[in-house]
Amino acid sequence: MTGRSALGLPSTSPFSPNFGRAPQSLVGRDDLLADLGGGLATGPHDARYTSVLMGVRGSGKTVLLSEIEDRAAADGWVVLSLDAGTPGLLDRIVQTVRNADRTYEALGMANPARTRSAERSVGIRLGPLAGQISVTEHDDRLTHMGLREYLTFLAQAARRSDTSVLLTVDEMHGIDRTEGRRLSNDIQHITKRGNMPLAFVGAGLLEMKTTLLQDRKMTFFHRCEHYEMPPLDASDAMIGLASPIRDAGGTITDEALELAAKAVGASPYKLQVIGDFAWRIAGAPEKSIDAVAARTAVQAADKDVRKKVALPAWHDLSRTDQRVLVAVASIDGGASPQVVAQRAGLSGDHAQESLSRLRKTGYLDRPRAGTYRLTDLVPLATVLDEGAILDETDSGAAPLCRQWMPQSNAYCILNQGHSGGHRSRHRAG
Ligand SMILES: Nc1ncnc2c1ncn2[C@@H]1O[C@H](COP(=O)(O)OP(=O)(O)OP(=O)(O)O)[C@@H](O)[C@H]1O
Ligand SMILES: [Mg+2]
Repeated sequence: MTGRSALGLPSTSPFSPNFGRAPQSLVGRDDLLADLGGGLATGPHDARYTSVLMGVRGSGKTVLLSEIEDRAAADGWVVLSLDAGTPGLLDRIVQTVRNADRTYEALGMANPARTRSAERSVGIRLGPLAGQISVTEHDDRLTHMGLREYLTFLAQAARRSDTSVLLTVDEMHGIDRTEGRRLSNDIQHITKRGNMPLAFVGAGLLEMKTTLLQDRKMTFFHRCEHYEMPPLDASDAMIGLASPIRDAGGTITDEALELAAKAVGASPYKLQVIGDFAWRIAGAPEKSIDAVAARTAVQAADKDVRKKVALPAWHDLSRTDQRVLVAVASIDGGASPQVVAQRAGLSGDHAQESLSRLRKTGYLDRPRAGTYRLTDLVPLATVLDEGAILDETDSGAAPLCRQWMPQSNAYCILNQGHSGGHRSRHRAG
């Protein structure tokens, strides 16, 4: 949409500061795409034909999944894309297949293989099978099939057309345990035992390592090839910022680019947020993005990332893991398990367990054996702020309101059920 509207001016920013939106310039993923793509192209006997992508929030899992789907669809694959964020995944897979012909008709997709991932919610792209999969209420044999039969039916049809099915499941960490077990068994049966062309790529948070990948009844997921989202490096950040700006007719000074790229760190989401703020603050494309705009953008992006990534990640943790994170944050220059145990009031074994879990799930890294430190996921300032709130709640005082106040970027620190407006630690909300 361009031009003036009653609602205001549409943004011209070439960045995508939203989760799940394909960026204009996808950086730092070539090796992973080549490796995983090679596995898919090789076929069911290749370990990478069934893969799981893992990474922290905003590391680009959904975008990568969409890119893989697009590439498979462009090769004429049948693509089924689902997410496990809400219960009922298995029913949704069945319904998606059952409604495939109607979905296509309704959307008027003449050539589904070419539709872009923006239509992820469509759920299925039939490629060469378009028009051949007709699962109607009148067909009794098909209406009474279960998940395994549907997937087998699709895989058989794909094989006849000399192609493959790709099933993708996003937000896998949220999968209902019973559904996860069934899905795991069904794919294992069809792809591994039956050697049928049904490929699988799942994506989810690193916490899967300590939950569903350890479940003995979901061994299939454990045996999938596992990929961790690679952190962006300095040149990825430079290219990811500079190329959308240039393509959209804007300019950025060398100093501003260096400053902004340095602040991106490893995170694709942060890259998009910094780029978007810098573009808008500078008034690009008419004005060049200079160091002042870049510096202000970095500060604004820090607040946004805290709210959208760091705080949700903090609240995903158990009380014990939060306490351990606070203990690590309070120790300068790397924390040893013994000191952490002491400060968090835990036994040595419990502290060690928690430290390993926090490392596996991306909250901590271990620069040297036996020494832990915070990553950028929940940065020092956030851990300390949130730790202070933990202390207040644990001290036996009345529970706090904790209403989030976006404008002050803080929680309400008044007691639950307070009268009047909310108030943050620093100022009135
Ligand atoms: N390789 C990349 N290069 C540049 N930008 C990217 C890349 N990958 C993702 N992004 C951008 O980062 C943001 C987050 O991506 P995405 O939604 O895929 O993350 P996610 O890992 O799925 O997050 P969540 O765990 O919250 O679902 C989006 O704005 C997207 O455009
Ligand atoms: Mg996602």
